Amino acid sequence: MIRPNPNVAAMAAYALPDISAAAGLEPIVLAQNEHAWPPSTAVRDAVMQALESGQLYSDSDWTELRAAIAEVHSLDPANIVCGAGSMELMSALLLAYLSSSDRILMTDYGYLFMRTLARLVGAPVDSVAEPDYRVDVDALIGALQPDTRLVFVVNPGNPCGSLLHNDEIRRLRNNLPADVMLLVDEAYAEFVEPDYHEPLFDLIEQGNTVITRTFSKIYGLAGLRVGWGYCPRDIRDQLRKVLNPGSVSSLSQAAARAAMLDQAGAAGARRLIAVQRDYLSAAVTALGLTVIPSQTNFILVDFESAERATSAFEFLRNHRLVVRPMAGYGLPACLRITIGTADQMQLTAQTLGAWRRHNA
Ligand SMILES: Cc1ncc(COP(=O)(O)O)c(C=O)c1O
Repeated sequence: MIRPNPNVAAMAAYALPDISAAAGLEPIVLAQNEHAWPPSTAVRDAVMQALESGQLYSDSDWTELRAAIAEVHSLDPANIVCGAGSMELMSALLLAYLSSSDRILMTDYGYLFMRTLARLVGAPVDSVAEPDYRVDVDALIGALQPDTRLVFVVNPGNPCGSLLHNDEIRRLRNNLPADVMLLVDEAYAEFVEPDYHEPLFDLIEQGNTVITRTFSKIYGLAGLRVGWGYCPRDIRDQLRKVLNPGSVSSLSQAAARAAMLDQAGAAGARRLIAVQRDYLSAAVTALGLTVIPSQTNFILVDFESAERATSAFEFLRNHRLVVRPMAGYGLPACLRITIGTADQMQLTAQTLGAWRRHNA
């Protein structure tokens, strides 16, 4: 049998997420932080139009998509890179810059995919606690080692949903040696009210800094796989070598462009999600459970023990509602619930209420 790369051989087998409800029931999946609504008519029209040229390869320079992103965010299109989801960009970044002689520094509840990528390149991971489920910049600065090459921060965080003020991210960058890369994953940034979350993009001017965003969350295109990153030119050039030039299909580029240009739609989605998040947070809190304040399209609920979290998970699952257990994140007493439609949130609140009555 041919031997795989030792880093890959040492990795656990890929585990497909189980998003099935109890036998025979159609699941309502609130486990993947997907958008609650299907793509808009404008997005569908753009995809249908792109299909007319489906015999041609997609634009491997993402020209129109980059132009739309740059226009909306007032950015330089030359510093934008696109990929098949921000996961592909993260993956390319690690392949381009990290090896087994480099260390990665992140937080205890940082996005798990980074740990998978770290194994792929053989880089050891150090992680620091998140007191009160919040990223602690001083802890990150204090945990730097001479061979730390990448610091990874998710803001707002997944799975905690909490927001770190961008001043703190700037303070972190200012305290990192110049040759340490800072990757800020902003997959959920568009859910934060823009009034109190000023953009961070100018931070890339300090060098060795990458900010990633995605079309999978507020733009509701998770299945189309489009992410983008903002980075200095030297990093862009290395990423371009690693990225598959055709990974973002022409249909996906057209969809993402249409979604980006519909900022009114995104703002509407942000408001609707906030209303449902407030509703579910209040309903769950009224049941005597702890909800971590969230700025995203999900909430993290603390059930106080792993047994109670498992019991609630099974109860919800028996009532079609599939949420995400958090043991993999070292939070076995918690469940993460994606914010969905008003009907889904009412059903979730009612079902958790029924579970609570059975488990007082
Ligand atoms: C923090 C974070 N980053 C990145 C991603 C992946 O995004 P994409 O679909 O763009 O690959 C997710 C998906 O859940 C996420 O939670």
